[in-house]
Amino acid sequence: MTLIAVLGGDGIGPEVTEAALSVLGACVPIEAERALVGGAALDATGDPLPAATLALCRRSDAVFLGAVGGPRWPGPLRAEDGLLKLRRGLGLYANLRPARYLGVPTPLRESLARDADILVVRELAGGVYFGEPRGTTEDGAFNTWRQSAAEVRRIAHVGFREATRRRRKVTSVDKANVLETSRLWRRIVDEVAREYPDVQLEHRYVDAASFELLRAPGSFDVVLTENLFGDILSDEVAAVVGSIGLLASASLGDGPALYEPVHGSAPDLAGKGVANPTGAILSAAMLLEYTLQRPDLARAVEGAVVQALSDTRTPDVGGNATTEEFTAAVLRRLELPRKTAVPEREAYGWGV
Ligand code: NAD
Ligand code: IPM
Ligand code: MN
Repeated sequence: MTLIAVLGGDGIGPEVTEAALSVLGACVPIEAERALVGGAALDATGDPLPAATLALCRRSDAVFLGAVGGPRWPGPLRAEDGLLKLRRGLGLYANLRPARYLGVPTPLRESLARDADILVVRELAGGVYFGEPRGTTEDGAFNTWRQSAAEVRRIAHVGFREATRRRRKVTSVDKANVLETSRLWRRIVDEVAREYPDVQLEHRYVDAASFELLRAPGSFDVVLTENLFGDILSDEVAAVVGSIGLLASASLGDGPALYEPVHGSAPDLAGKGVANPTGAILSAAMLLEYTLQRPDLARAVEGAVVQALSDTRTPDVGGNATTEEFTAAVLRRLELPRKTAVPEREAYGWGV
């Protein structure tokens, strides 16, 4: 039985998490053990990542997280610190955020949006998020942007390896015209690229990349970038495909992986039962693919989501369905493959 640490978190986090678990549980037998994170954990224990939660995550096969944060926890200790500590504590360094056109309305012309099939590969362990020293002074504040060559090398390999399973193109995004960390980034990415001669590599500055993502989203395949740029660009590609509620993610490291939708706790929607659970459900599909090595089941979930979206939509994608109604529509469409195991060559192992 697969043990999943389930951290619903705050706002709409628990709502979309339960939706995703019901789809995951329809695919494979799972044992879900729930624990606190974020603001919910701060309220209950004074710590956004209690030791018991981290211990559970470490002994689980995978972690599923809803979202953390909200205006009730303005700091200095914030709900978001729970997620950052969890990424650190699990040694997660590769954040995969796929965004594909799913047939729902988007702010772009349909002729542009329909070509979007982008994988943002975001470095998750370094950059200005974690650089020391950081702090507040009497009349200001400061952060440190650090990036090690080893961090760039390992995420670059992830990006190129993912590209070989896709359309074999990597766009590496940096700010090498200004930042030393980006110059290092570009040099190491060029080095790693030599090991993948059949993958096309292009470099773009982050400002130009953000423009190009809206102008010609179909020209991107893998977007390989550092922590902060990846955070920002993944919300941008969410707009390209129509809603932040659609985007899934997997965060991979050397131990249990963490799966979570890209969106936040959406305090404006919390408790209303109308959050779009697609991002969470597609995160469950990523769990099936990366942790359980069941790409056949992952494809079945994705297919059910696309079919459900054709006639059942939550308000963010132009409909009036509730979270529960949409989840039920996905479950109705779910057609599990008859075979129970996939031949090894079809499975994609996240080398752990
Ligand atoms: P957000 O993603 O929560 O919301 C942005 C907008 O998108 C809002 O209008 C919201 O209603 C909408 N939205 C988000 N998810 C949706 C869904 N599933 N269905 C329909 N609409 C959805 O971003 P924010 O408002 O900037 O952040 C709110 C809180 O969440 C903050 O505390 C932030 O730090 C936190 N946050 C957490 C995570 C995470 O836990 N991984 C990610 C992003 C933001
Ligand atoms: C995300 C979020 C987090 C991040 C926050 C909540 C710490 O925005 O996962 O995209 O910045 O990584
Ligand atoms: Mn974000």
